[in-house]
Amino acid sequence: MAQGLLDAAGTAVLAVAVSLAVHVALHCPIQPEGPPPRRPAARFPPNNLLQNLEKLGEGRLSAPEDVYVDAGGEVYTATRDGWVQRMRANRSWEQWRFVGGTGLLGVAPSAGDGAMLVCDADKGLLKLEEDGRVTLLASAADGSTIRFADAAVEASDGTIYFSDASTRFNFDNWYLDFLECRFTGRLLKYDPRTGEVSVVLDGLGFANGVALPPSEAFVVVCETMR
Ligand SMILES: *[C@@H]1O[C@H](CO)[C@@H](O)[C@H](O)[C@H]1NC(C)=O
Repeated sequence: MAQGLLDAAGTAVLAVAVSLAVHVALHCPIQPEGPPPRRPAARFPPNNLLQNLEKLGEGRLSAPEDVYVDAGGEVYTATRDGWVQRMRANRSWEQWRFVGGTGLLGVAPSAGDGAMLVCDADKGLLKLEEDGRVTLLASAADGSTIRFADAAVEASDGTIYFSDASTRFNFDNWYLDFLECRFTGRLLKYDPRTGEVSVVLDGLGFANGVALPPSEAFVVVCETMR
């Protein structure tokens, strides 16, 4: 009797283990390659500067991802509720322009005329005019969909460099990109004269922030992991 129960329990455990293995084999959404990323080199000495930071817009801004400060000292950020929000010089916040969607990430000034570049992870690279008009500048590069527009910067000749964090996973599934570690992010370039989008650099580990030095001699792009 006891032996029969043990056998039944053993069979049940085996059945669960096998079905779990089959489920993972058939339905696992990621296909990891290679070892996980190394720890970053200790190139910069540790400091505790962030302990002195002051939080702006706390409790009011829904997951602001990026920020820029204009020449007049006003602060702009895009939030997860689809708004571009602005902090005035007197520190009061206002919902400045509505873009929509739930995946607004990078913001950057454009053309010095009050227009702004906004990266919408779900749609691509957007341009927001001062009057509130929104144009989709880019949603594909070299024939492949921009799945995860993340951050942008505009050069003085109007060329826009922007990052596509992953060509495998979208915004809702960002964590799968970190589990998989296949480094499929890209640095893209938008040419305002032709409207063409080209790939400047691929194989990036979750490409994120982009920046230009004053000389514009190079572009800096951050990998979130490597
Ligand atoms: C802050 O400045 C803006 C723009 O000048 C003004 O509209 C607003 O009323 C000010 N808010 C406060 C709390 O002073």
